[in-house]
Amino acid sequence: MEKVTLTIDNIQVEVPQGTTVLEAARVAGVDIPSLCYLKDINEIGACRVCLVEVEGSRGLQASCVFPVYEGMKVKTNTKKLRDARKSTVELILSNHNRECLTCSRSKNCELQNLAEELNITEIPFEGEKSHETMDTVSHSIVRDSSKCILCGRCVNVCKNVQEIGILDFTNRGFETQVSPAFNMSMNDTPCIYCGQCIVSCPVAALKEKEDIDRVWDAIEDPNLHVVVQTAPAVRAA
Ligand code: SF4
Ligand code: FES
Repeated sequence: MEKVTLTIDNIQVEVPQGTTVLEAARVAGVDIPSLCYLKDINEIGACRVCLVEVEGSRGLQASCVFPVYEGMKVKTNTKKLRDARKSTVELILSNHNRECLTCSRSKNCELQNLAEELNITEIPFEGEKSHETMDTVSHSIVRDSSKCILCGRCVNVCKNVQEIGILDFTNRGFETQVSPAFNMSMNDTPCIYCGQCIVSCPVAALKEKEDIDRVWDAIEDPNLHVVVQTAPAVRAA
């Protein structure tokens, strides 16, 4: 495959044509923060955290979807970039349930880690929050849209890796959610509870039910009759 030589933060690197700037940076040992990106699974440029400056190009570019070219010069850590990344993460956090102290993903949350890395100590963008859905009806997966950052990772894992496709972007604009069609409970879909959506989620918008062990004990106990209950997802005002 044809190779391309470029410089990232003055480090010269050679990568195959078609490589993205983010992947080239990883080869060069340069860290560019990312959030929505999952290699080969979710490369949709949704979060804009991975911004870089490309010499000769107008504006800032999302490195996870920007392909390299011969002689390209990239900067990843200017003040302009740090400020833009910080504002982007502050905006994401402004519409995020920030009850981190009681969150099961605390200290294991990509958004929390990024906020710490960017030294975000307060959110300057307080305002209306989008509607929330808490789906706790399924056997093993809880979906909490108040924590969803709309990265799309679960969508593409479910659709393209597991080939099931029960999760997708629904509604539009400020009302956008990632959910089953018509905001149904996951219990009312052909979900096989493989858990790959939970594994791919960078935050706690999808998580295991805390009483999952009791559910499986009950299912495996021949003396117990397990009632499978379905109900519409709860939608907060
Ligand atoms: Fe991303 Fe998680 Fe929301 Fe899916 S549920 S879009 S993985 S934050
Ligand atoms: Fe590149 Fe989200 S990681 S846009």
